[in-house]
Amino acid sequence: MLTAERLTRISPSQTIAISTKARALKAAGRDIVSLSAGEPDFDTPENIKQAAIRAIEGGETKYTDVAGTLALRRAIAEKFRRDSGLAYAPEEIIVSTGGKQVIYNAMMATLNVGDEVIIPSPCWVSYPDIVALADGTPVIVPCGQNNGFKLRAEDLEAAITPRTKWFMLNSPNNPTGAAYSAEELRPICDVLLRHPDVWVFTDDIYEKLTYDGFKPATVVEVEPALRDRTVTMNGCSKAYAMTGWRIGFAGAPTTLIKAMDKLQSQSTSNTSSIGQAAAVEALNGPQDSIEVMRGVYRERRDLVVAALNATPGLTCHKPEGAFYVFPGLHGCIGKTSAGGTLIKDDEAFVVALLDEQGVATVHGSAFMYPGHFRISYATGTESLRDACARIKLFCEGMR
Ligand SMILES: Cc1ncc(COP(=O)(O)O)c(C=O)c1O
Repeated sequence: MLTAERLTRISPSQTIAISTKARALKAAGRDIVSLSAGEPDFDTPENIKQAAIRAIEGGETKYTDVAGTLALRRAIAEKFRRDSGLAYAPEEIIVSTGGKQVIYNAMMATLNVGDEVIIPSPCWVSYPDIVALADGTPVIVPCGQNNGFKLRAEDLEAAITPRTKWFMLNSPNNPTGAAYSAEELRPICDVLLRHPDVWVFTDDIYEKLTYDGFKPATVVEVEPALRDRTVTMNGCSKAYAMTGWRIGFAGAPTTLIKAMDKLQSQSTSNTSSIGQAAAVEALNGPQDSIEVMRGVYRERRDLVVAALNATPGLTCHKPEGAFYVFPGLHGCIGKTSAGGTLIKDDEAFVVALLDEQGVATVHGSAFMYPGHFRISYATGTESLRDACARIKLFCEGMR
């Protein structure tokens, strides 16, 4: 056997698998609407692209410091100060190849066999796998739809054991769009204050995408006493439509940043110098493109939530942020689709929906939360209308 034992602990990303299947069906001539990818359909704003072109022409094409250029780490420090009132010095910041590598670095740099990581679910598909790859044990804590898919402080308290090393929080959340306000984070911070050995990882990558005046908050902003054991992660992928540029970053205590830097120095080194120059412009330049994208996402969210709630068998919660909705499909379980598939669970639902109506979505079990499916509304408004009409046809056709 060529492959290592650690690979048996993880599975390939299921969201990527479904997007790949949808692309293959499209290439074979099928009319497919893909609502499975977690990336903005907008192009990267022009000022950011121009900054990258200038960087290439100006020769910014060499290795940088492993943790990122000083210019970018200063821009990130300023972003943390401006948006959340957090004071991180450049030495307390690392830039990595996407937010994903920040999570990977933090887990690989700190977990030992048997260490537990508390992950509220629904959760982003990669969290449990990254933890397992790093020898840790994911402890999944389900959050009820009736609580807006948000973690209750008492459920966090009950999940903490002497082996708990990390608590991971993602707000706004992928796949539900649920976001925590400062008031909602307060009781969670109170639990964490009672457990001084638990570290906190906050994934705020969708921070800029909240709607209806909702103000998201981050843990250290709410409870500065947690700063010395918190990683505040963010990035350019979602807010600035920069998924392909691979820029993620975090602020954390210097000792942890040094450990992550050491690991990164022996894996990828710095992320692309050109992407870093573009990220400086993203963070320091005009922010109005975010407002434009946010306005469009909000309209789409409202359109999708209304359409799904008018569909038999589905119930859809209206989320505060990100670009996902996570409808429940309990009313469809046990029925048979028009194409003859028994909808025994959420996976059967999404497979039949793709086969029969050409709509690609992701089943809730991929996010550790069966009985639901995820729709990404980061796609053209007309395609979304079309997809919602097809989902309705699909559900109406069930017997
Ligand atoms: C919750 C969450 N965290 C992190 C990431 C990773 O972002 P990046 O593309 O910057 O690696 C994603 C991407 O889908 C995400 O949804």
